[in-house]
This record gives sequence, structure tokens and C-alpha cells, in this order.
Amino acid sequence: MTQSNNNSFSSSLGAIMAAVGSAVGLGNIWRFPYICGKYGGGAFLLVYLCFAFGIGMVLMMSEFVIGRRSRHTPMRAFASLSPRRKGWRYIGLLGIVTCFFILSQYFVISGWTLSYFFDAVTGRLATMGQDAAAIGCYFTEFSTSASRPVVFLTVFALLTAVVILCGVQKGIEAVSKVLMPVLVVLLVVLCIRSLTLPGASRGLSYLFSPDFSKLSAEGVLAALGQAMFSLSVGMGVMIVYGSYIPASDDLFRTSMWITASDVLIAVLSGVAIFPAVFSCGLEPAGGPGLSYCVLPNVFNSMGGVTGVVFSAIFFLLLSIAALTSSISLLEALSAWLVETLRTRRFVSTLIIVAAEIALASIVSLSNGMWSHLQVGGDTFFDFVDRLNSIYLPPLCAFGTVLFFAWVMPEADVRDELTNHGVLRAVYYPVFRFIVRWLAPLALVVVFLTSILT
Ligand code: TRP
Repeated sequence: MTQSNNNSFSSSLGAIMAAVGSAVGLGNIWRFPYICGKYGGGAFLLVYLCFAFGIGMVLMMSEFVIGRRSRHTPMRAFASLSPRRKGWRYIGLLGIVTCFFILSQYFVISGWTLSYFFDAVTGRLATMGQDAAAIGCYFTEFSTSASRPVVFLTVFALLTAVVILCGVQKGIEAVSKVLMPVLVVLLVVLCIRSLTLPGASRGLSYLFSPDFSKLSAEGVLAALGQAMFSLSVGMGVMIVYGSYIPASDDLFRTSMWITASDVLIAVLSGVAIFPAVFSCGLEPAGGPGLSYCVLPNVFNSMGGVTGVVFSAIFFLLLSIAALTSSISLLEALSAWLVETLRTRRFVSTLIIVAAEIALASIVSLSNGMWSHLQVGGDTFFDFVDRLNSIYLPPLCAFGTVLFFAWVMPEADVRDELTNHGVLRAVYYPVFRFIVRWLAPLALVVVFLTSILT
């Protein structure tokens, strides 16, 4: 038996905060509110809740079980839980590859966010007024330029690395325990501002009023994909965090808290953003367009110092969400390297960060100067985006759940979920049915429809 990694979170609260930090990211803030409105508001929300708790949370519990049972990072975890079928460790490797690509894209976007935070604080964004064209041009010019995005992504990557170097308890846990409450406070402040603007109710009705006619099959699939993406499942990050969860924690309760917090923050983001967007008579958008083009316009319409303050709050919020997610990705990669090469944490973190900065710089430059760098007709940026959203996570999640439900000894699963017989785990029969049948089926459907359409 190989020696396990001996890191751990100090308490249940620390574990929950760190995992919520991983789950709450750009997906909650710029993706969820938009698709929620697009596919029928309340109707979408209902389906989303079912998927988040019924499938996303179940996948999260499976990853936690694999991590805590083995106390290893993904590759070795799979190998050690099924010693006679070591081939499954390649699913762990696929997770590592997925983390590597996702982190490169996360660093690029986090760099943009940090840069916009500075532009907000220094008043540069405010000087553009409510000229939508000027704001849009600024974003295009900035994101396609060579040096500024690379400088900011490098700063952001180094910041992430510093947290990892401080360790699991003194770095990840301590930072998450401070930043997650700060994030909630900032979000609530934005919600109050947004709800007190004239005409806010139109934004709320866009977000919440249930319109089942807009909830197409496409909307249902989008809900499922978003539920899994938002909970950060399907790439082994939760296996690594699971290996740090204290032995006495109830994994069901822990996963329930994380899922509920993640959903709540996604909904609050919608409440903070859409009433304000509608109150300015602007059109809702999702993704970069929302954060970097529509919202600066909204803040500028508040005028003067108020606008500067609220835009600074928003970009700080987005930077925090991006940082705690990047931390979990870098931790997964760095812990894997420690286990594989038996290096020190310091060395492995530096190696990974250097490699990520290099890859992220290429991803960033492919938006402008290196746009000729194409893969299958896509720019490198779009190619990485495609890998991260369509191909890698569902594949890896599928492999993980197959291993968990069909290969790993059931006695081990039960033992881990009941904390060696201490807890009752009354949900177990339903849980077992979902991991054996429903979740794999759902993943196949998501994967096939997304590559075929
Ligand atoms: N959950 C993150 C979000 O909502 C995105 C994400 C997907 C992620 N997989 C991850 C973050 C793994 C950290 C680790 O934006």
C-alpha cells in the first residue's frame, strides 16, 4: 500500500467553505442567471434544483467517498480502491488533464477580471460613460492585446500559488473562511442596490416568473450541464478535497450544505444583476459580454462615485469567486504532482504554475496576435473552451461514476457513507439507484447531445 497524503481540513466548516469556494465561480455569476432567464425563469429553476440535488450532489458525494476512502489524489485513488483493475487510474489522469485545461482558461478570465477591478478603482471604466460601443470596443481591444492580459493573468496565477504554498489549513482553508463570507456580503450589497433601482421588478420577473413554454428539451439539458459544472464535479477536484475531509464528517450533510450554498449564490447573482440591467433598459447577456460590456454600462449609469463603488464591488466579487475556484484546481494539480513525483509541495506548485502561465498565455494570445493558431477551425481559445465545456468533464464524470457504482466494492462505499456504521444513511437505496443508473444515463445524454448539436 502506498503512503497516503497526510493533509486535512481542520473542521467540517473549513471543508465546506473550501468546497463552496471551488463550486462558486464564474459559472454562478455570469452563466446561471442568463440561462435561467433564457429557458423560462422559475420553470428552469425548478428543473435545475432537481438536477443539482438529484445528480450533481450525488456525483459530489461519490467523489468525496473516493477521496476520503483512499486518502489519495485521483490517479492513485482509483488504483488503490480497486487493486486488481489498475486501468481505472487513467480516469484519474483524465481528471488531471481536465483540471489543467480548465485552469488555463480560468487564469485568462481571472486576469481580465483583476484588470477590470483596477480599471474600476482607478475610475477608467467610469470615463467611458454610457457609450455601449466604447465599452464594447474597450473590451475587444483589451482582450486581444498582447501584454496587459498576460501580465494580469500572471499576477493572478502567482496569487493563487501563494495560497497553495501556505498549505491546506493555513492556505486554502483560512483563505476560504475569510473570502466566502466576504463574497456573500458583497453580493447582498449588490442585491440591495439592484432591487432598489426603478423598474427592478422586470428583472425579477425575467429571472423567476415560470414560463414552461420556454423550457425546451435544450433547456433541460442546459440545466443538467450547468448543475454539474457549477458543483465542480467530474474532474477529480472533489476527490482531492474529499481526501482532506475529517473522518468524522457526514459526507451527505457536507455535500448538502455545499450544494445549497452554491445554488443560493447563483440565484442571488441573478438578483444582483438582472434587475439592474433591466432598469437601465439594457438587454441581458451571458458570459463575458455580461460582465465586461453590459455591466460597466449599468454601473456608469449610476453616475459618479456610486458607479465607481459598485463596479469595484462587482469586479472584486468576481475576482474572489475566480480565486477560490482556481485555488482548488491548482491544489488538485499540485497534490497530484507531489504524489506522482514525490517532490515537495513547493517544487510541484512552482512547476504547475509555470506550466499553467505558459499555457494560459498562449490561450490569451490566441485571441489576438496569435489568432492564426487554430485547432480544427477554432482559435486555440475556443478549442480550449470546447474541451472544457463539452468534451472532458462529462467523460471524466462518466468514468468516475461507473467506477464508483460498478467497480469499487459496495461494502467500502457503505462503510464510508455511514462512517463505519455510526451513521444510518437512510438515503442509501435511492443514492445507489442514482449512481448506478440515472447519473450514467444522464451523462451519456448530455455528452451525446452536446457533441451532436
Ligand atoms: N464550478 C465552477 C463555476 O461555477 C467551475 C468549475 C468547473 C470548477 N469545474 C471546476 C472550478 C473545478 C474549480 C474546480 O464557475
